[in-house]
Amino acid sequence: MKVTVCGAAGGIGQPLSMLLKLNPQVSHLALFDIVNARGVAADLSHINTPAQVTGHQPSSKEDKTAISEALKGSDIVVIPAGVPRKPGMTRADLFNINALIVRDLVANVGKTCPNAAILIISNPVNATVAIAASVLKKLGVFKPRKLFGVTTLDLVRAETFLGGMIGEVPEQLKGKISVIGGHSGDTIVPLIHFDSSIAAKVKNIADADYNDFVHRVQFGGDEVVKAKNGAGSATLSMAFAGYRFTEYVLESYANKASQAKIADSAYIYLPGIEGGSELAASLGGVNFFSVPVFLKDGEVQSFKRPNELIGTDKEKKFVHIAVEGLKKSIAQGTNFVEGSK
Ligand code: NAD
Ligand code: LMR
Repeated sequence: MKVTVCGAAGGIGQPLSMLLKLNPQVSHLALFDIVNARGVAADLSHINTPAQVTGHQPSSKEDKTAISEALKGSDIVVIPAGVPRKPGMTRADLFNINALIVRDLVANVGKTCPNAAILIISNPVNATVAIAASVLKKLGVFKPRKLFGVTTLDLVRAETFLGGMIGEVPEQLKGKISVIGGHSGDTIVPLIHFDSSIAAKVKNIADADYNDFVHRVQFGGDEVVKAKNGAGSATLSMAFAGYRFTEYVLESYANKASQAKIADSAYIYLPGIEGGSELAASLGGVNFFSVPVFLKDGEVQSFKRPNELIGTDKEKKFVHIAVEGLKKSIAQGTNFVEGSK
């Protein structure tokens, strides 16, 4: 498998690339960034695992060869390129800069390796994935089953925080809880009531603790931004989460994940998948939504419906709130591409 990381020299890009270098399924790891990609590639290339590592960095703004070389023949493209938040900012405040970066990178993916699975990490994910879809549609190469907004960090956080609260090893909560919706504030919806094996423990959570848990999952990103105090947002936990999802996609090419009972969520274009248009209609016309996805050959085969996972009226209410929040971001992303050349 050839995996390309765009934004590979950044806070997420470097540790994510290192984790990918350790995966034996990766034969070629291509690192693209506008700075220091060759340096990071030289460094990682000394690790004695099979993946060949190449670094690609444009020599000028006009240089299009570096990105083409990085993407050529790629099976998976992971995009953590763009600016992170500083204290006081929302993810939406990143739109103006990151929208352009994602638009141009995805256009290159569409032209160079249109069959690759594309994993978007750059914020605001609620809008950047809509941008990616519109760019690919314009180019006539949109494969909805292969476009993923990476929302795994929300699930990783939910497993960690709930595990601490109910005395379960977070790893053991994989598949027993879910996070759906989007990736920002109250568009993030943790669902923890559907699995019978943890029901007794979940039932015993006091209301105030439950509210704290939901808030912490929804605003975990702010916690890190505040603690880093101007030095950026989550990078290491994101590299872990981004790797977890990329590994899931890699395994799906080896036909393993199609049988997976545990499905991580991703933010996908619903109408492109069987049953997705019905779900989008039931969500008030929201076309992008994060749901647990089952994969094969790097593509979404099917997904779990929110109704299978929602266990309380409160969770149902959270979904309604998320839907309202998503509408604006999706429209912003779509309009951005439709309004540009
Ligand atoms: P960073 O500033 O440390 O790294 C970003 C990298 O992108 C830099 O190396 C920069 O040179 C590179 N870059 C900029 N423009 C580029 C272009 N046109 N082509 C290729 N590379 C380019 O930032 P970070 O902390 O790694 O965060 C990156 C993005 O990921 C941010 O938008 C952040 O908000 C987002 N993020 C998303 C999640 C999530 O859950 N999806 C979690 C954390 C961060
Ligand atoms: C996160 O959830 O940590 C990321 O989306 C980064 C951020 O801006 O909070």
